[in-house]
Amino acid sequence: MELKAINGDGIDSWREVTLIYNAALRQLETKMEILNDEFQHVHQYNPIEHIKARIKTPESIVKKLKRHGYESTIDNMIKYINDIAGIRIICSFTSDIYRIVDMLHEQRDIHVLSVKDYITFPKASGYRSYHMIVTVPVYLSDRTVDTKVEIQIRTVAMDFWASLEHKIHYKFEGDAPEHIKDQLVECAKMVSDLDERMLQLNNEILNIGQNREEAEEA
Ligand code: GTP
Ligand code: MG
Repeated sequence: MELKAINGDGIDSWREVTLIYNAALRQLETKMEILNDEFQHVHQYNPIEHIKARIKTPESIVKKLKRHGYESTIDNMIKYINDIAGIRIICSFTSDIYRIVDMLHEQRDIHVLSVKDYITFPKASGYRSYHMIVTVPVYLSDRTVDTKVEIQIRTVAMDFWASLEHKIHYKFEGDAPEHIKDQLVECAKMVSDLDERMLQLNNEILNIGQNREEAEEA
């Protein structure tokens, strides 16, 4: 751990900061679980497949601060690093992603600071996901701290692609051979087509189910 690299403020402040970010993650996770349960109750369907949460390691916080030319202080990390706390929400269908985005916008205590829609506008790498930076209030004994969390929302297929691409990116230290990059872009297109087909298929199945129910009621 490069705790020493975080100047001035010392280990106590670092511990307090991680405690707060952890609390923010737990709150968001619970919120998402509640929304999922409610959705199951109303629509007999779960938009969320699973949720992963993580706190950025001190090493990568320090690295990112350096990369952006900031001194490694607790103040700087709180101010400039938006992804110290990160939560990844994995859904089955692209439509679920936008459903979750809408639900998050509706939550009165969550403030959306920024969004990046890499589904409508994929990255050149082929990367697709919906990103939000939000703040969540963390209630401590003597104060409330609005805490930033990065939310990444993607389908199971997008997640499969992103983890392989991440592994390759890491292995080649960001400089993968062209033919591998090309294949990844090709795979990203296949993933996008697959997501679309699965959504269409699911909608067809839902319609058949609905028509049957109506016929039985008549
Ligand atoms: P970072 O400095 O990497 O956090 O990027 P940023 O602040 O410019 O934000 P951006 O929304 O582009 O990316 C945030 C996060 O999304 C990254 O830390 C990754 O987890 C993920 N991500 C973004 N682009 C890619 C990509 O091309 N491939 C993969 N596998 N993940 C990506
Ligand atoms: Mg990041």
